[in-house]
Amino acid sequence: MENSSDRPHPFAGRIEDFIRGNPAAAAKIQHIEVTGSDAWDLRVSVGWAGLGDMIIRRAAPEDLSALREFLMEGLSDHSRFLFAPYPYEDDLGAALEAVLSTSEERNILLYHAWLGDKIIGHFFLGRFGEAIPDLGIAIADHCHGIKLGHLFMTLLVGVCATAGKEAIDLTTNPQNHAGFHLYKKIGFEHIGDREITVGNGIQRTEHEMRYRFIKPV
Ligand SMILES: CC(C)(COP(=O)(O)OP(=O)(O)OC[C@H]1O[C@@H](n2cnc3c(N)ncnc32)[C@H](O)[C@@H]1OP(=O)(O)O)[C@@H](O)C(=O)NCCC(=O)NCCS
Repeated sequence: MENSSDRPHPFAGRIEDFIRGNPAAAAKIQHIEVTGSDAWDLRVSVGWAGLGDMIIRRAAPEDLSALREFLMEGLSDHSRFLFAPYPYEDDLGAALEAVLSTSEERNILLYHAWLGDKIIGHFFLGRFGEAIPDLGIAIADHCHGIKLGHLFMTLLVGVCATAGKEAIDLTTNPQNHAGFHLYKKIGFEHIGDREITVGNGIQRTEHEMRYRFIKPV
């Protein structure tokens, strides 16, 4: 008799369907296993063509030193300029400790993609308890351009779809041509430009983009 515990949870099955439904990601997947009953315990084990085996799971306090290494060595200066939610100077340790230790309480759903003992992807949904969460994403420079952006974005869209969200918001710098192209391809619309305050306290104008699950009538 078939053991029901061998079957993926319906939540995990839906996330896998979302990922496989993205043609760019599907073309890179060698094998995939998705487990977990909700967004907070989602775990994806995936073999990626040209890269190897990756594990994606929710971030935890013990990720601190690997996260710091990812941000300061995995990302170039230009990538840190584009991905700027954190102060990359004196207060970085405190900012990262805060985001890792309280992600559930603060409603930040944060995932890390691991290649061996290195983080290669850091992506999240802020304000996850609200109808329209905010998305952020960064991928190690040596892994750009191999469709990991499609994989991680589709995973986050799938998580929001299963949670019944109305939409997802993000902002991106006008210099971020790869990001802008990727977000449009995933289904985000450019809805305007607005001033944001980045992690070091500086204000700048970014493109505001929205993915709508509920289309305006
Ligand atoms: C932006 C980012 C998440 C994209 O991830 P990625 O894994 O490199 O993206 P993918 O390989 O999945 O897809 C990139 C797409 O952009 C396209 N692209 C790449 N460079 C481009 C450019 N200069 N202009 C236009 N499109 C470009 C690629 O051709 C690809 O499109 P395609 O699938 O239609 O061929 C990643 O580059 C990154 O982390 N950058 C640094 C930090 C950052 O910018 N974070 C986002 C802040 S909003």
